[in-house]
Amino acid sequence: MMPFPAGQHILLGITGGVAAYKSADLVRRLSSQGAEIQVVMTEAAKAFISPLTLQALSGRPVRDTLLDTEAESGMGHIDLGRWADTLLVAPASADFIAKLAGGLASDLLTTVCLATAAPVVIAPAMNQAMWLKPATQRNIQTLAADGVHLIGPDSGEQACGDIGPGRMLETWDIISELESLNVKKSLAGIKVTVTAGPTWEALDPVRGLSNHSSGKMGYAVAEAALKAGAEVNLISGPTTLSPPRDVVLHHVRSADEMLNAVKRVATDCDIFIGVAAVADYRPSQIEMSKIKKDAKHVTLELIRNPDILSWVTSQETKPFTVGFAAETDNPLEHARQKLEKKSLDIIAVNHVSADHSPFGSDENQLVVITPDEDIDLGRHPKTRLASTLIDTISKKFHESYKT
Ligand code: C5P
Repeated sequence: MMPFPAGQHILLGITGGVAAYKSADLVRRLSSQGAEIQVVMTEAAKAFISPLTLQALSGRPVRDTLLDTEAESGMGHIDLGRWADTLLVAPASADFIAKLAGGLASDLLTTVCLATAAPVVIAPAMNQAMWLKPATQRNIQTLAADGVHLIGPDSGEQACGDIGPGRMLETWDIISELESLNVKKSLAGIKVTVTAGPTWEALDPVRGLSNHSSGKMGYAVAEAALKAGAEVNLISGPTTLSPPRDVVLHHVRSADEMLNAVKRVATDCDIFIGVAAVADYRPSQIEMSKIKKDAKHVTLELIRNPDILSWVTSQETKPFTVGFAAETDNPLEHARQKLEKKSLDIIAVNHVSADHSPFGSDENQLVVITPDEDIDLGRHPKTRLASTLIDTISKKFHESYKT
């Protein structure tokens, strides 16, 4: 592994506060150590420091507008969130902290914070009275519970003449705090294989059988594993999604092709996560030319596809294995049976109901079942759910080595 921050993509958010002058030094020092910096500024930040200074130091145009068609056609707000390995907001004003705690997406910075699966780190900077106000303290507690990392603030003499807590940390303190967060990446050096998307079982050159799956959840899981420091192989059925940067992508179509790809990579992985919606059956034969539609009735003979997860868990040295289940009736009970039948370590369950289907949606609701407990991860955007799921998997994976 390269020493931090070399090669890291750091999205630096700058909000309105006098401490914004320190952000220029932060950009300079992180860049000179090999990090790539993309600055995103709020309108208020521009009153304190010029975007031109930050553009010159980071070598990239500063982004400041959410609804900017030209910038969005290049790297839009979703892509910015994906690009970032870490999202650092320094200085983070009281106003920005309140917006983040409230889940607002009212400008580019708050929107990227909401869209990213990368760790969000904030370095607050404000007058001591503003910092100590119950509203700010409530917001800080909310952010901590949401998994946002807080660095600082420092205490001492403030630009306004007050003395107390609220000063932004100095550049080197921020860098060393970032470094220690980075060292704590929960899956650093761990090899993870993820299957995603549907499979396509051809009937003839134009027709086939498939399952409902956009691949969004599997891709989000692969991305969250990457952000946690893992080396990720993503074995994907047909989807229209662009893969996360830095995964090793294996395109497959049928369940058989998926199994072959799994056989190539999964024997050398530590954690296997089967998110793919694998078709249970395939036509017994594939016609070489398009089947004519003259007949009134057509009978298809289907044969059972291999169960990929069961193949993985039947190996002598099996990885820590996680399955997914989408169930309509008694989801927890059925999922528990599947956990046992397929010898899984964890199964993540979607409840599919008339009023909520996870297919194609950006949101999902998951319960994680292990042999010892059920953990309700709640309903959230798939990106956020994926990072909570990866945190849970990582914890259980490391525990399994202690027992
Ligand atoms: O048995 P069921 O299809 O409900 O199980 C779902 C889980 O099993 C998912 O994790 C899916 O990726 C995996 N699976 C598989 N191979 C199959 C069918 C499902 O790996 N043939």
